[in-house]
Amino acid sequence: MFSRRTDWKLTPNRFTETQRELTASRREVLDLTVSNPTRIGLHYEKEAILRSLAQPDSLDYDPQPKGLLSARQAVAGYYREQHSAFDFDPEALILTASTSEAYSYIFRLLCNAQDEVLVPKPSYPLFQFLADLQDVKLVSYPLLYDHGWQIDLPSLYKTVNHRTRALVVVHPNNPTGSFVRGDEIAALNGFCREYNLALIVDEVFLDYPHDGAPRPTFAANRDALTFTLSGLSKISGLPQMKVAWLVTSGPEDKRGEALARLEVIADTYLSMSTPVQLATPVLLEQSKSFQPLLLDRLRTNREELDRQLEKQKTCRRLQVEGGWYAVLRVPVTRSDEELVIELLQKHSVVVHPGHFYDFPMDGCLVVSLITPPQDFREGISRLLEFLK
Ligand SMILES: Cc1ncc(COP(=O)(O)O)c(C=O)c1O
Repeated sequence: MFSRRTDWKLTPNRFTETQRELTASRREVLDLTVSNPTRIGLHYEKEAILRSLAQPDSLDYDPQPKGLLSARQAVAGYYREQHSAFDFDPEALILTASTSEAYSYIFRLLCNAQDEVLVPKPSYPLFQFLADLQDVKLVSYPLLYDHGWQIDLPSLYKTVNHRTRALVVVHPNNPTGSFVRGDEIAALNGFCREYNLALIVDEVFLDYPHDGAPRPTFAANRDALTFTLSGLSKISGLPQMKVAWLVTSGPEDKRGEALARLEVIADTYLSMSTPVQLATPVLLEQSKSFQPLLLDRLRTNREELDRQLEKQKTCRRLQVEGGWYAVLRVPVTRSDEELVIELLQKHSVVVHPGHFYDFPMDGCLVVSLITPPQDFREGISRLLEFLK
């Protein structure tokens, strides 16, 4: 009765099962994997946010496939202000309910069934589901770690073939926290031009460089057909509002055709609600109060992590340049899954095993740097004690 593309293994894995058992037994656990910014004790401007959702114009329905112009102008303003002014055209972008939805539009635009898209490894686990749902085949290219992460450019040339349609980069990547460097940008553009591929750039964590130095956005990239994705879930810490977007850039003929086709896809769903589009200028403005708080949280937890790591030799942190996570390298005494389950059962601490993110080897754990600091301090302390 059901399609092959939804033939997922629906039973929970052992790690999730263990978590559920502990929750059912009401044991208090320290969760170092939190990714929900609305539940980490940060201050939000509640009144302004709620007021923005109650505008009288919400009573009128004015369906716009690309999204309401006022919302798109606010997004254009964000790129101009926060990512050094360039001639940003609100007509070049389409609003979507999530970056996941933006990925699905782009896969639909570019790929026939079983066409291939190149994705980084390790990276964000949702890609496989997004690809399955659009009948797209993912082919991974490695990120290599050698005093920092880098794209294995030669391997890109080995993975490309006549079915390849696009290259995905996550800037900075989740969970490695590595930005695409200037020399890599030039190489990626050259690669995409040579093989007639589109570049899909996920920039949801772009505003969170740990050294405070802003990195350039790809939204202005003109050297290859480029789709740049971002949204309010990370920019303003408002995932519940469901506002994201894709920006098109690149050679004008390709960009124009891509945009026209995407507009039809967006028109088919019209998935954005009117109240949230009208609220978008205010919700984007929240980034100015939210980001300093979140950057401060990242710094506090990173410093605490390093302070504790300094006192021992079993575990070390891999270099991280941006984003909300850190990767820890630990001795390989058993599989990552067995390690995190034992940590959870014996010490009530939740961390993610590296294989969730497709790390090619065991011995990698991922922790969230947005965790409330008290939990983070105690959780890391228990983890290091356990590893000893
Ligand atoms: C790399 C990356 N892209 C996209 C998303 C999801 O963003 P959205 O809430 O807009 O779908 C996440 C969420 O954690 C992410 O890590």
